[in-house]
Amino acid sequence: MRIIEVESYKEMSRLAARMIGGQVALKPNCVLGLATGSSPIGTYEELAADYQAGILDFSQVRTVNLDEYCGLTPDNPQSYRYFMDLHLFGKVNVDKANTHLPNGAAPDMQAECARYEALVESLGWPDLQLLGIGHNGHIGFNEPAEDFPTCVHTVQLAQSTIQANSRLFDRVEDVPTQAVTMGIGAIMKAKRVLLIAGPDKKEIVEKAFRGPVTPQVPASILQLHRDATVIFAKKDA
Ligand code: GLP
Repeated sequence: MRIIEVESYKEMSRLAARMIGGQVALKPNCVLGLATGSSPIGTYEELAADYQAGILDFSQVRTVNLDEYCGLTPDNPQSYRYFMDLHLFGKVNVDKANTHLPNGAAPDMQAECARYEALVESLGWPDLQLLGIGHNGHIGFNEPAEDFPTCVHTVQLAQSTIQANSRLFDRVEDVPTQAVTMGIGAIMKAKRVLLIAGPDKKEIVEKAFRGPVTPQVPASILQLHRDATVIFAKKDA
């Protein structure tokens, strides 16, 4: 595992976008595993700018997102589908039909988990998986647990996750308490993993990547991935 420390969020975003852009240039029909949250917004801005500048072409790219809140329809501004359309898909020439997220509003969540697992497998495990990290070490919505869940599953969000994510909602009561997420299995099967973290994640980055591998800190499993890179930004700006 490589841990790269950079000075700023801007630098982290540029470097991450360069790695993702390199993947797209190398294999135009690659499968990108994508993430939501504040961490990747700058990366998506850089990718959109590279597309606008004619440097990148997303026309053949396929994407699979990590997770989605349960109970939110895709047109809900708090849904991760909405986030992805706003920050990336609407700004580049990716074919929307090739962009995939779990459906958090599916009537039968068990069937939805099975559908999404089969879909990701049929596309081929991601050539590159982008990740953020929660303050408690979650990746996707794989919360600290007794073991590492392998497949797509629904999860009860930790109280600390609900609190942290409430900054994007009007009221903490509006934050869904459940989500559907790719398991650790799909993340570990990605050919390359790229995790980005800002200065507020200093403590958990240390714990996850320099401490023991344990399901109590889900991201720690990445220490065992054959090609994982962490970019840590020392400052916000
Ligand atoms: C959410 C997402 C994660 C993300 C995490 C950190 O809970 N499910 O995929 O990595 O938040 O988000 P942020 O980058 O906003 O700190």
